[in-house]
Amino acid sequence: MDGNGRWARERGEDRIFGHASGVESVRSAVSAAGELGVGYLTLYAFSTENWSRPQEEINALMELLVKSLAGEVAELIRKGVRLRSTGDISALPDACIAGLRDVEQKTAHCEGLNLILALSYSGRWELTEAVRRIVRSGMPAEDIDEHAVRQHLSMPDVPDPELLIRTSGEQRLSNFLLWQLAYSELHFTPVMWPDFREDHFKAAILEFRGRERRFGRTGDQVSTEAQDIKQGITK
Ligand code: IPE
Ligand code: MG
Repeated sequence: MDGNGRWARERGEDRIFGHASGVESVRSAVSAAGELGVGYLTLYAFSTENWSRPQEEINALMELLVKSLAGEVAELIRKGVRLRSTGDISALPDACIAGLRDVEQKTAHCEGLNLILALSYSGRWELTEAVRRIVRSGMPAEDIDEHAVRQHLSMPDVPDPELLIRTSGEQRLSNFLLWQLAYSELHFTPVMWPDFREDHFKAAILEFRGRERRFGRTGDQVSTEAQDIKQGITK
């Protein structure tokens, strides 16, 4: 979810205004994912590297998280969304940990979309943790294969993402799900996260589905269709 700061600056506002505006895009993505029958949506909300931002911005992001969790829980339950989190959660302020645990517990029974918040997360952190767990388990080196590594990742039950969407024109992975993205399709868009709403999300998924399943149509037909939708929403 990239581009909040630039989006705000373009409007003469401070970065925090951009983050607050991005919350509506999260709502949009969750609702579009639910409608399209997406099983898992992982949002890279705060990276390990983001701890180096100004303290004031970090505080604002954490407050936004606490406020959003409390404000959205009823709607998540209504939509059947199960919330989970991944990352070094213990590094978050106590109020965030409490808010997360509360919503995780209240949505644990939900069977629709699995919404995963990556917080204080980085792919290298996760892989380093996996190595630690393997060593602690005493597993003999000969037994360590790809399956064993996967089983020691933070969420071994969550399938690898089929599609990665990155907003704001950046074309990097930025330390996100390094193991899990090995075979994922990548979607890069210049749209800043606060502007990335339901139609953008749906167009990205449709274009991805076109890549995967053409239903007898040519690749050109599918991309023209996705292009039309994109143009329709930006006009
Ligand atoms: C992403 O937007 C939001 C978070 C990291 C929480 P940025 O804050 O990275 O926005 P830009 O990249 O400065 O525009
Ligand atoms: Mg950024």
